[in-house]
Amino acid sequence: MTGIFGNSALLQTDINLILQVIMVIVIVIGLVYKSKRKFKRHGELMGIAVVLHILSLFAVMLPSFNDGYDYFTTATSDLGVQTTWIHAAPGATAMILGIVLVATWALRPTNIAACSKKKRLMDITTLLWSISLIFGIATYILFYV
Ligand code: HEM
Repeated sequence: MTGIFGNSALLQTDINLILQVIMVIVIVIGLVYKSKRKFKRHGELMGIAVVLHILSLFAVMLPSFNDGYDYFTTATSDLGVQTTWIHAAPGATAMILGIVLVATWALRPTNIAACSKKKRLMDITTLLWSISLIFGIATYILFYV
C-alpha cells in the first residue's frame, strides 16, 4: 500500500516514522516533567514511549527486518544498511532497558526512591534511544527520500 508522504515508502513504514517522531516528543515531555521533579508523570510518559516502541518493533520493524534479512546481513557497504544497524542495535538495547525501568516501577509504583537509584541506567537508556531515533530517521531518508 502506498505511503503518506508520496515517496516509495510503504504505508506501514510511514506510520512507523510518525510513531518514532511521537516517541521523541513523548520522551522530551517526559524529561521536562523529570526536571520539574514530577517523577510520577515522568515515569508514566516514559512507559507510554516504551509501549509505542514495542508496538512499532513488532508491527513494523521486525517484519521489515525479517523480509530484508539477507540484504541487511550482506550489503554492509550500503550506507542505508549501516544506518539501519546503528538504529537497530542501540534501539533494541534501549527497549530492553526501558522495559526493565518501567516494569520494576510498575511492580512497586509508590517507590519512586527506587527509580531514583536507577538514574544512571535512565541516562544510558536515553542516550541509546536518542542514537536509535536519530539513525532511524536517517535510515528512512536514505532509503525513501
Ligand atoms: C524508558 C524509561 C525511562 C527513561 C529513558 C528515563 C530517563 C531519565 C533521565 C535521562 C533522567 C535524568 C537522570 C540524571 O539526572 O542523570 C531521569 C531521572 C529520573 N527518573 Fe527516569 N526514565 C525512565 C523511567 C523512569 C521511571 C519508570 C521512573 C519511576 C517513576 C523514573 C523516575 C525518575 C526519577 C525519580 C528521576 C530523578 C532521579 C534523581 O535525580 O534522583 N524514570 N530519568
